Amino acid sequence: MSSLAHKRILLGVSGGIAAYKSADLVRRLQDRGATVRVVMTAGAQEFVKPLTFQALSGNPVHTDLLDPAAEAAMGHIELAKWADAILIAPASASVMARLAAGMADDLLSTLCLASEAPLVLAPAMNQAMWLHPATQANTQTLLSRNVTLLGPDAGSQACGDVGPGRMLEPLDIVEGLIDAIAPEQMLEGKKVTITAGPTREALDPVRYLSNHSSGKMGFAIAAAAARAGAEVTLIAGPVRLATPAGVHRVDVVSTDEMLAAAEQAADDCDLFIAAAAVVDFRPKVVADQKIKKEDGNDSDVLSLVKNPDIVATIAGRTSKRPFVVGFAAETEKVAEHAKGKLARKNLDMIVANDVSDPEGGFNSDRNQVVVIDRDGEQPLPAALKTELATQLVALIAARAFPDT
Ligand code: PMT
Repeated sequence: MSSLAHKRILLGVSGGIAAYKSADLVRRLQDRGATVRVVMTAGAQEFVKPLTFQALSGNPVHTDLLDPAAEAAMGHIELAKWADAILIAPASASVMARLAAGMADDLLSTLCLASEAPLVLAPAMNQAMWLHPATQANTQTLLSRNVTLLGPDAGSQACGDVGPGRMLEPLDIVEGLIDAIAPEQMLEGKKVTITAGPTREALDPVRYLSNHSSGKMGFAIAAAAARAGAEVTLIAGPVRLATPAGVHRVDVVSTDEMLAAAEQAADDCDLFIAAAAVVDFRPKVVADQKIKKEDGNDSDVLSLVKNPDIVATIAGRTSKRPFVVGFAAETEKVAEHAKGKLARKNLDMIVANDVSDPEGGFNSDRNQVVVIDRDGEQPLPAALKTELATQLVALIAARAFPDT
């Protein structure tokens, strides 16, 4: 049976050149068994005529909140209740801002406010608009309300700019929608612990050692594992990200705190995934007062000691040992160094990450990795971390729990 069989999808189309791709999206949704009704904003109608969507969906297109004839046929509250999911593609910066603010000033925003169905957005906008702090803040607000974001993709844009903001291709949107509203429950009944983000080691009351990890990779894995049915504990270093839906989050700062939280979670855990970028060394002594440059501190000011290795500690357990997956952030001989870590840390699997690639690694929305275990290697090509996380979770689940 198709994975969207009997699903009623309300497709919102907002103003943007990518609206032409949404015509094909209607067909791709129907191919997977969905019934589609389309709502267009005023902006969308400047790019594509409602008749196009009416012909493709086989249903009248909804455009106005205050149209008595349309309300008599299927009122907006009825429409909001009809939907099993609302998919907005393209979702413009303006639509995202209005949804984040909870506005109900046109049919689409009103439907989103009136519906209890899952909301999935495929953003599409100019790269500067996407990167603007206002859009990024709206994105975090929407994520914190369990809205799913598919994309945006990066590349050359209709306006001539190059960067993030392109709408995903229709087939990728359909796959993302299925994953969001009807995912395969590969981790049902499993307890999964994930570490994410950096750790931070104090030097004195005002300074610390850390790294550029944003937590995006680990948070995306936590979200994907929760969608796959797992009970997820996410141990997060200091990052500014919204907690994914259905995930239990434990905030930590230092490596010792992350280790203690990991040990506690691992006592009752089937799968441990270490995506955190743990600071390898910490100051031997943390100064009580701010270290002064006037105090003859000209060189050799810091003396460092090695931090405990969290993932190796969990993998070294003789009892209550979960299936353990590490990451390897490498800048050269990526697979070779990752294999060394797989063996040295006694891991079951390692995700090798070339962090010298400017398109991936630390603080990027995208990544590309090679998954390595004792049976071989599987490259996962460059993709958004959110998409890569879904693929990783499927791969890890198949290896860790082959019989389920
Ligand atoms: O957070 P993002 O901005 O999204 O970036 C993602 C990422 C690049 C941080 C992530 O994909 C990644 O590669 N994480 C591992 C980073 C790292 O510290 O790699 P490593 O090669 O130094 O460590 C190997 C493994 O040991 C990792 O699983 C790490 O979590 C673990 N480790 C390392 C040191 C330590 N003291 N304790 C550990 O558990």
